[in-house]
Amino acid sequence: MNWVQVSCYQEVHGKGQSGTVMYADARGDFSAYAGQVQLVYLDPPFMTGEDFSLRMRVGEKGWETGRDALVLPAYQDKFASKGEYLSLLRAALENARMLLNETGSLFLHLDSRMSAHARILCDEIFGESNFVNEIIWAYQSGGRSMKRFSRKHDVILFYRKSRKQFFDITKVPLPRSENRSNHMRRCVDENGRTYRTIQSGGKTYTYYDDEPVYPGDVWADVSHLQQKDPQRTGYDTQKPQALLNRIILSASRPGDLVADLFAGSGTTAVAAAQAGRRYLAADISPLSISVTRKRLLETEMTLHMPCDAQNIRMEAELVPGIAYHDVSLKDYQGIPGPVQGLDLVDQWSVGFIESGVFTAQSSAARRKHTPALPAYLQLPQLRGTPAILIVDVYGNRTVWKYQED
Ligand SMILES: C[S@@+](CC[C@H](N)C(=O)[O-])C[C@H]1O[C@@H](n2cnc3c(N)ncnc32)[C@H](O)[C@@H]1O
Repeated sequence: MNWVQVSCYQEVHGKGQSGTVMYADARGDFSAYAGQVQLVYLDPPFMTGEDFSLRMRVGEKGWETGRDALVLPAYQDKFASKGEYLSLLRAALENARMLLNETGSLFLHLDSRMSAHARILCDEIFGESNFVNEIIWAYQSGGRSMKRFSRKHDVILFYRKSRKQFFDITKVPLPRSENRSNHMRRCVDENGRTYRTIQSGGKTYTYYDDEPVYPGDVWADVSHLQQKDPQRTGYDTQKPQALLNRIILSASRPGDLVADLFAGSGTTAVAAAQAGRRYLAADISPLSISVTRKRLLETEMTLHMPCDAQNIRMEAELVPGIAYHDVSLKDYQGIPGPVQGLDLVDQWSVGFIESGVFTAQSSAARRKHTPALPAYLQLPQLRGTPAILIVDVYGNRTVWKYQED
């Protein structure tokens, strides 16, 4: 029996309808989704002048111990000029506006380097009257400077598409902090409910302890991902899901489409899927697509990324059964390097291939709780050409079709 490499441009998991992952430039053509998106979150490069990496654990031992890892270049945040950077931002913002429906919102995540320029750009593209908030995400992580006040916040610009905007702050209540209300007078009303009062400017303000409080525009309660945070994928610049949860829950409804054109490790799509929203995640880094694919493997996803034959060797066995075939990986040899054999395999799926579309039936991926790949994956005996899709630790994606001798 033989497995022959074939080209493929799309893979489908389940019905493929929960969301879409695209290997695409944020400046590209997204017109197929025009007016269909409720929320766009953009976390583009910040013009830091730095290179960013993916720390990729390798093989069973690497996933068990966290020690064996490759540090791979994920993307460059380098631009020849401010003009070049701003033209990327302009094109992405124009796409965002085109994607949004009339009730939709944009959240643009930057830091103090480019946020002032971006605000002017957003005013131009969305209209000054559609500015909603400048959110300050304040955190403690990172180094301290003695030459100036340490830069400890990011800026998230929030614009609406139109006056018809949907926004529901009641979906993101905060736990009431005891400290905040300590300076207020504590009272109990005739129904036994406790409340605090404070006088200011000749007025008395009353806050019941059992009433929720809502976030303002300074978010200091969401911390950066810690070194050992289980959410960590190894992709530099990954944002905490709590940040996206607040944005998604307040600015979209279940079933809505949430888009991120600089997807990175896929945090927005993961948060959207968990909140029952559909997602559209795009990025130009193949490693971003690998990490995002892995995080969304359990959702009903369609992934658009061309893959052509590469200089890779793979051996697998297909054992026919009554209702299922058992498919097992035997060997994988990629470009010569420090990692070889099945340790190179990070994710694999079995399914069917037809006209360049791979339809997955069963998938596996190395994770902390499943460091070893399963001995075999099962493929139902449906009509179709059996195929295997492999994503290796370098982000190479190959599809192999089964051919009987
Ligand atoms: C700051 S990271 C996003 C991190 C993401 N929010 C997360 O939580 O993982 C920026 C991403 O933008 C991507 N990128 C850079 N230029 C792009 C472009 N022109 N089109 C699409 N993606 C781009 C990079 O590959 C990188 O993954």
